[in-house]
Amino acid sequence: MEKRLNKIEEEALREIEAAKSGEELEAIRTRYMGRKGYFTEFLKSMKDLPQDQRPVLGAKANALKAKLTKLFESKIKTFGKKEGILESSVDITMPGAEDMRLGHKHPITKIISRINEIFIGLGFKIAEGPEIETEYYNFEALNIPLEHPSRDVFDTFYIKRPMLLRSQTSTVQIRVMENEKPPLQVIAPGKVYRPDAVDASHSFMFHQVEGFMVDKEIKFSDLKGTLSLFARQMFGEDAKIRFRPHFFPFTEPSAEVDVSCIMCGGKGCRVCSYKGWLEILGAGMINPKVFEAVGYNPEKWTGYAFGMGVERIAMLKYGINDIRLFFENDLRFLRQF
Ligand code: PHE
Repeated sequence: MEKRLNKIEEEALREIEAAKSGEELEAIRTRYMGRKGYFTEFLKSMKDLPQDQRPVLGAKANALKAKLTKLFESKIKTFGKKEGILESSVDITMPGAEDMRLGHKHPITKIISRINEIFIGLGFKIAEGPEIETEYYNFEALNIPLEHPSRDVFDTFYIKRPMLLRSQTSTVQIRVMENEKPPLQVIAPGKVYRPDAVDASHSFMFHQVEGFMVDKEIKFSDLKGTLSLFARQMFGEDAKIRFRPHFFPFTEPSAEVDVSCIMCGGKGCRVCSYKGWLEILGAGMINPKVFEAVGYNPEKWTGYAFGMGVERIAMLKYGINDIRLFFENDLRFLRQF
C-alpha cells in the first residue's frame, strides 16, 4: 500500500510539472483527485488494511493530498488570468440566476423632468427651497397675514410654530426674489404637505412645480401664451387651456387654469365629469404686496406666477385614477412606466 501511495505521488508530481495549460492541469487534477481519481480510489481501498496500519498510512495520505492541492493551486497561477478563471469553474459570461431588472425613474420624477425640460426650453432656470419652512415664507411674505381668513384654506402641518411643512411651493418665489434681482424666469419643483384625508384624489404629500417670471411690463397675455405652449408640449398639439377667475392672495388677478380633457378632447366623458375640462394649475399676476415683501419696487417690476400639481398632471397623462398608486411602491404598478 505504501508503495502505491509513493507511486501516486511520484507520477502526480511529474504530470503536474509537465502540464502546459490550465485545461491539461484540470484533467490531471480530475484523474488524481476527482471522485473516481487514483487518489480517491486509494483512500477507499484503505478500509481493507489491518486496523493498526490505517492511522500511519492515513496520515501520509492526508499529507499528500494537502501537498498536491497546493501544487495544483500554485501551478494554475502560472497559466495567467484567463486560464485561472476557467479553472475556477465560474463562467462569468453566463446570465445570472436572478432576474436582474434595470431600475428606472418613478412616474412622478418622469413628469417633473418633462415639465422642467419644457420650461428650460423657454429660458427658465430651476430653483429649490426647503420643505421645512416658516410661517413667514409660507404665508406672510405671500400676503397671507396671520389673521387672514384665507390662511384656513391652506391647511398646514405645523411642527412647532413658526416652523411648518410647506403647503405650497410658492415659498420658493420669495426665497429666490430675496436673493436675486430681476429679470427672473424660474421654476421650482418639490414636495408639499397638507393634512388631507387620503383618498383616490388626495394625499398628505404631493408635488408641485411653481413657476414665475419677473421683468418690466409682463402682461397677462405672457402668462397665457406660456401656459398654452406648456399644455401643447405636455399633452399634445390639440390641447387647449382656459382661465377661470379665482382668488389667490399672492396674485392679482388670479385664475384657475383648465386643460381640455385629454381623454375625450373636450366632448365630455367620465374622466372630466362631462365638463370637457380638467383643472391643472393656479396662476395669476404677482401681487404688488409680494414685491414689497422682497424689496422690489412694484412700480417698476411686474410678473406672473403659476403652480401646478404634478400628480394631477401625471394622472391625466397616464390615465391613472388613484393618486395612492404613486406612493404605495407596488412594483406591478411602477414597472409600467
Ligand atoms: N400656491 C397655489 C396653490 O398651492 C398655486 C398658485 C401658485 C397659484 C402661483 C397662483 C400662483 O394652490
